[in-house]
Amino acid sequence: MTGDGTRAAHGPERRAVTQEPLTPPVYRTSTFVLDSAQQTADVFAGRETGWTYSRTDNPTSQAFADAVAYLEDPKGLAVGQPFGSGMAAITCTLLALCSNGSHVVAPQEVYGGTWALLTRQLSRFGVQTSFVDMTDLDATRAALQPNTSLLWGEVLANPSMTVADLPGLADIAREAGIPFAVDATFASPIVCRPLEHGVDLVVHSATKYLGGHSDATGGVVVGPTALLDRIRTVRVDTGATLAPDEAALLSRGLATLPLRVRRQNETAAVIAAALSADPRVARVDHPSLPAHRDHELASRLFAPGLFGAVVTVAPQGGREAGMAMLDRLQLVKRATSLGGTTSKAVHVATTTHLAMDDSTLAAAGILPGAVRLSVGLEDAEDLLADLLQALGEG
Ligand SMILES: Cc1ncc(COP(=O)(O)O)c(C=O)c1O
Repeated sequence: MTGDGTRAAHGPERRAVTQEPLTPPVYRTSTFVLDSAQQTADVFAGRETGWTYSRTDNPTSQAFADAVAYLEDPKGLAVGQPFGSGMAAITCTLLALCSNGSHVVAPQEVYGGTWALLTRQLSRFGVQTSFVDMTDLDATRAALQPNTSLLWGEVLANPSMTVADLPGLADIAREAGIPFAVDATFASPIVCRPLEHGVDLVVHSATKYLGGHSDATGGVVVGPTALLDRIRTVRVDTGATLAPDEAALLSRGLATLPLRVRRQNETAAVIAAALSADPRVARVDHPSLPAHRDHELASRLFAPGLFGAVVTVAPQGGREAGMAMLDRLQLVKRATSLGGTTSKAVHVATTTHLAMDDSTLAAAGILPGAVRLSVGLEDAEDLLADLLQALGEG
């Protein structure tokens, strides 16, 4: 009989599970057992497939990325890689595709975290970025340099909900012989499948719609095997891995993604229409509105009737009016992030775009009072009642 230390550490002989579990188990393990020295050598050398170590690959984390790839590409040709956050996914994609001396073209409205990564971090390693108005295809083409190694876009920009002309931008990248990667976080594959519009790589912060419950942080990149192999190598080398418990939560979220996203998109359109008709409101940005600059483009690129579930509303009266509106909200939570079951709102100028003063905001087309609303799963009438009372006397 072995000692209690040995029995506690190894446990009794495990019962084999021969049936397939309906819900995949969570592989909460940092490492994997191999049968022999030779098999260990073969798996490490890549002569045999197998799991070795969870920073490298974990079945639960990989299953999440595979499921997102299947949603992005129903034909099943694209592959996915899982990451510990959206920024980890973006970092590994940029590190894989850029080297010292590379140049990147990115939208001037790019997500603040991506902007910081490019300007604060990658610039120190010799990667330069031109931020351009990507709604202007000629300006985008003109920004390309001989050393441009990547065109970066966002399907829906924050907070204007500007829609990227994916086919037009894909043509520019193809002519230049460089990959076109897009951050599709604000859309989700239910609203738009960028690979079908000529995009090479789709990146998501899974923390948002994919997980959908504001309880897990993760990221994912989807695209062809040749590019994803390079991106995976950077993930392994930097340790930007997705933990299995987070992956299980994100995978659970995926099962209801179409239901959640359609409902949130429909509610967002109802709210956008009602608020844009209210005299206390200076402007509403949502592509469902015929007045939005990209209403027609979104109608062409997005699934029928879906325009995203983030609505930016600027009350009359500027910065103070925006903050006062936020303070009066009762049902909608004052919280950053998007894509969860509960609606959230932030005052853009004092949170996501904190670094910009009023004149820089004006140049970017952002009103100082703008409030960004991420529409959740509450009833549209309840949300609208809260938003209308939060507008106050106007
Ligand atoms: C468009 C976009 N991309 C990337 C990210 C980064 O994702 P994460 O917070 O999961 O790192 C965010 C987060 O807000 C985002 O809004």
